[in-house]
Amino acid sequence: MSIPPFIIVAIDGGAASGKSSSSRTLSDRFNLLHVDTGSFYRALTAELLRREVKPADLPAVQAALADIALGTRVEGRSAQMEIAGRVVPDAEIRTRHVNDHVSHFAAIPEVRTALLEYQRSQAAVARARDFRGLVMEGRDIGSVIFPDATFRFFLHAHPEERARRRASEGGQDSISERDRLDTSRKTAPLACPPGAISIDTTHLTLAEVVETMAKPIAEKLAS
Ligand code: DC
Repeated sequence: MSIPPFIIVAIDGGAASGKSSSSRTLSDRFNLLHVDTGSFYRALTAELLRREVKPADLPAVQAALADIALGTRVEGRSAQMEIAGRVVPDAEIRTRHVNDHVSHFAAIPEVRTALLEYQRSQAAVARARDFRGLVMEGRDIGSVIFPDATFRFFLHAHPEERARRRASEGGQDSISERDRLDTSRKTAPLACPPGAISIDTTHLTLAEVVETMAKPIAEKLAS
């Protein structure tokens, strides 16, 4: 009997493009470790803000990064970032304050470098825990973190529809401003990498988005 392949599914897209719901569903369906890299940037931002570090103060950012010890805790099928042994709770990483700062910190090349190997190391976490692979969502997963991922998807939707989704989740988030910053930054900007499968989710239900991605994944796992 052949060993099923370990697969890496990269899902990139702007805020409220449907990444989180669909990657969580794929994680459950195929027993993949779910890695939300936006939550990593958010946790790091919350920690930098707690230390009163400003994005414009590069030496302070670098000093803090050198001092912050990162770990991973797996809860259910989800990889959570630990900072100094503590998972920063959702209530602390989804605040208005973090929303307003996260894209500014994420645009700093030193911040992205600090998270690069950490994000790649999630594959070893998934293997060690006998997942069949991992599904990682973010902005640069298919372009920078795992350019050789088994599947690379890029989700997008009309801005009005994304704003409606975020509002219906009760979120207070200026997604258009974050997208502007994430798309225009010099290092690893949000963009559909060549060869990725681009899916317009504007008029699709979650189930339809999931089916579009699940079909090739199921075929691969059965091979
Ligand atoms: O997915 P999210 O909206 O929670 O991400 C929060 C911010 O983190 C996003 O505005 C930009 C940044 N981010 C990034 O630059 N690269 C990633 N791979 C994931 C998130």
